[in-house]
Amino acid sequence: MAMSETKRNLDGLIEKIEEIPTIPVVSQKVMELSGDEEARFEDFVEIIEKDQALAARILRVANSAFYGFLSRVSSLEHALVILGIDEVRSIVLGCSVYNFFSQSESDAFDRAGFWKHAIICSQVAKLLGTHFNIRNNGSFFLGGLIHDIGKVVLDQYFHEDFVKIIGHVSLTKTTFSKAEKKILGTTHYQIGAKLLKQWRFPDEVVTQILYHHAPWRDENPGPNSSMIYLANVLTKLAGYPCHPDEKQIDLHEFANSSELDFIIKKGFDLDYETIKNLISDIQEFALAEADNVMRLFS
Ligand SMILES: [Fe+2]
Ligand SMILES: [Fe+2]
Repeated sequence: MAMSETKRNLDGLIEKIEEIPTIPVVSQKVMELSGDEEARFEDFVEIIEKDQALAARILRVANSAFYGFLSRVSSLEHALVILGIDEVRSIVLGCSVYNFFSQSESDAFDRAGFWKHAIICSQVAKLLGTHFNIRNNGSFFLGGLIHDIGKVVLDQYFHEDFVKIIGHVSLTKTTFSKAEKKILGTTHYQIGAKLLKQWRFPDEVVTQILYHHAPWRDENPGPNSSMIYLANVLTKLAGYPCHPDEKQIDLHEFANSSELDFIIKKGFDLDYETIKNLISDIQEFALAEADNVMRLFS
C-alpha cells in the first residue's frame, strides 16, 4: 500500500538523520558560549583560534562587502568588537554548515548553484534587515545561508530519492516542496529544521528554516520567519534560483498575492515598485560581488 510505503520511508528517514554526525567542536563551543552571559571576548578568541582556517574565514567575511566596513578588520578581537558576539556566532555556524556540505560527488545537484542561491539569500536577508530597520541578532544572515540545507541533506543521505525529486521538479516545473511531498512524504524544510535542532542551533534559526515557505504557519510573533521567506522569494526573483528547473515566481502575481499581504502585515512595507527596486539592488550587488562572495566560505 502506498500509505505504509511512505510511513516506512519516513521512519527510515528520521533514523538516518539522527545518525548524521555533529558539526565541529569549535562551533558547538561557540554556540554554548554565546548563550553564556558571563562569557568574555577572550573566551571566544581562545576557542576560535584553535581552528586557524575558521579564524581566517571569519576575518574574510568581516572584511567583505557583507559588512562594508571602511577600515580593515585585522584581528579576531577586532571582529568581535565591531561585529558583536551574535554576528560572529552566525558566521562560525554558517561556515561550519558550509564546510559540512560543500563537498559533493553529486551528479544530480549543482552544489555551486545551490550555494550561490544560499549566499545571495543571506545577503538579501541582511539587506532587508537594514532596509526595513528590523534589528536582529545576526540570525538573518545565518538563516538565509542555510534555509535550504535540507536539500543538501537529501542529496547526501537520500540520494536516490533526491534524484527522483529533481527529476520530478524538472519534468513538471513544480516546486521542490511539492515534489518532496509526493516522493518522500516530507520536505527539505522539515528535514533541515530537524537536523539543525539536533545540532542545537538557536531556536530562532530552526524556526526560520522550518517556516521559510509558509511563515503564516509560524505562531511566534515578529518578522523572523517572514524575513527568510521574503529573502528567498527576492533571491529567486533576482535570478538566483536554487535549481534552474524549479517553478519560477512571477513578480506580478507575487505583488498581488495574499502571501505578500501577510508579509506586509509582518512589518515589510512593500509594493510593486519597492519590490522592483529591491530586486535591482540585489542584482547590482550580486553582479559586483558574486565572485568575492562565493569565495568567502571556501
Ligand atoms: Fe526552500
Ligand atoms: Fe531557497
